[in-house]
Amino acid sequence: MTQKNLVRLTLIISALCFSAVSWSEASRYEEPIRYRKAVMTLVKRHYDKVSAMAKGSVPFNREELQQQTGYLEMLSKLSLDGFIVGSHEGDTKAKAEIWSDWARFRAAGEKFQVETVKLKEFAKKGPQDGLKAALSDLTRACKNCHDDFKAAS
Ligand code: HEC
Repeated sequence: MTQKNLVRLTLIISALCFSAVSWSEASRYEEPIRYRKAVMTLVKRHYDKVSAMAKGSVPFNREELQQQTGYLEMLSKLSLDGFIVGSHEGDTKAKAEIWSDWARFRAAGEKFQVETVKLKEFAKKGPQDGLKAALSDLTRACKNCHDDFKAAS
């Protein structure tokens, strides 16, 4: 093999190794990214059910409200699990600021949990006409976090 070909071969091999490394990096994050998006999808589904009740587009039903807010509270506890360090690359809208400013992101997650607990408490005996206001605190918690840490679509 000539010197030139050897250099070429070395270059090809290192290019292959490099892409294998970046591929494995990406696939390492695939599962947590899928997980957190799945959690958020569920959060949205149950949030929408409560929101429909707050808007009056479906009838107020306390039993249903308690069930939905219970799901939201449970999901809020899972909401930070999929945000493992560095997983802002790949099929995701998570911003790198999540990890560079983890304390603030975690605080936004904790605020989310506090608001779901409050809403679950409200569902027990809060007045029907107070649901809209009660839900707006939770909506703000979603929005504040998305504004800072989720890339716009
Ligand atoms: C602590 C921060 C935080 C809170 C609170 C939060 N989200 Fe998110 N949400 C995110 C981030 C970050 C993403 C982007 C995740 C990704 O693409 O990997 C996201 C993604 C989503 C998505 C898109 C999921 C997908 O499949 O791409 C929906 C829908 C969503 N959130 C709804 C909500 C709703 C509704 C609430 C409140 C009830 C909420 N989120 C609260 C941070 C948050």
